Amino acid sequence: MPPKFRVGIIGCGIAAQFFHAPAYRLLQDLIEVIAIADPNPENRNLVQAILPNLVKQYTSLETMFETEQVDMADIMLPHNLYADVIPRVAHYCRNILVEKPFARTLQDAQKILASTSGLNFSVVHNYIYGRRYKNALEVIASGKIGTPFMVRLENLNTGMASINPSLTTPWRNQSEGAGRGTFHDHGFHLVYLARALMGSEVIAVSASMGNYYKEGDALDTAVVTLFHENGGMSILLDGKLNNQEPEEVEEVLGTKGTLKINPVTDTMEKFKIDLQNLPRNEVLKNSPYASSTAACIMDFVNSVLTSKKLPVTADEAYRNLYITLAAYESYDQKRVVEIPKNLLI
Ligand SMILES: NC(=O)c1ccc[n+]([C@@H]2O[C@H](COP(=O)([O-])OP(=O)(O)OC[C@H]3O[C@@H](n4cnc5c(N)ncnc54)[C@H](O)[C@@H]3O)[C@@H](O)[C@H]2O)c1
Repeated sequence: MPPKFRVGIIGCGIAAQFFHAPAYRLLQDLIEVIAIADPNPENRNLVQAILPNLVKQYTSLETMFETEQVDMADIMLPHNLYADVIPRVAHYCRNILVEKPFARTLQDAQKILASTSGLNFSVVHNYIYGRRYKNALEVIASGKIGTPFMVRLENLNTGMASINPSLTTPWRNQSEGAGRGTFHDHGFHLVYLARALMGSEVIAVSASMGNYYKEGDALDTAVVTLFHENGGMSILLDGKLNNQEPEEVEEVLGTKGTLKINPVTDTMEKFKIDLQNLPRNEVLKNSPYASSTAACIMDFVNSVLTSKKLPVTADEAYRNLYITLAAYESYDQKRVVEIPKNLLI
């Protein structure tokens, strides 16, 4: 059996607990997390409790890289830290996977991408690996609904909390930590989903936003229209629901019919059994996202091992961020913002 691909996780918060650590359980035959770095010992211990093997724990990423032979860095941090941390990681590691949206501003994105040029750098677009979107893309490709002309993604959610809720930090609500707000954070997913479902690039963006919950200064609600090259439109609604189960209304309208995108709620059986002895397993096993994160990580690792084009290239991640941030420009300036066809990083 070939040696396992060795991963170092940087950041042991919500994304590591609910998405990446469970994903590495699914991938344990091929990939092994050997070390984790996070200054917060409680978060490190929560992630260790989910991982399938004992790992080395570090408070600093530099010490981790200087001590361990790591093939790949898997980074998930508050957004304001990426511009500092990713260039430091690039100094040590050739294969870098980073959580979305990977940068707070376009200037930070340019700095990050300059530091990772020539390396295998990719961003987690995990939703596209979700079964509901894979099924939808297959139906669209079959021609059943004709040519898509409208994508509707109303994707409201209740917000994220740590496995131990007392460890949840408020950076998401604050522009200093999160960037401008929900659309920059969660809406980033909706942008790449809309681009894929429409099968056509975005040429312009128009947006309205608000801060209704007043839990910080970040904009917590966004209504965004994307205009696509094929003449179609995407309507994106992103924000928070209080005291209610997530409400997702997602469909693609085509010239021959409409495709409703229904959540796939059944968690993989293997995954359910594997998680049953873990802390808060009832929460973890109901997370539909860990298996899509596993697919996303595996796709990245396969591309690295076979020297194939990365599933999400630096150009692709930058374009998605550019469109996402253009929504804020549209909101600020009350105008439709055009997206250049050729984006220079
Ligand atoms: N793809 C998804 O579906 C998804 C879901 C949740 C979060 N995310 C993304 O994951 C990222 C992290 O979000 P989160 O919710 O896990 O945040 P979080 O606040 O829960 O966790 C961040 C962790 O980073 C640690 N940290 C801070 N500085 C560090 C450093 N220098 N080195 C190592 N660790 C450090 C903190 O101690 C904390 O444990 C964000 O980019 C977020 O958008 C993605």
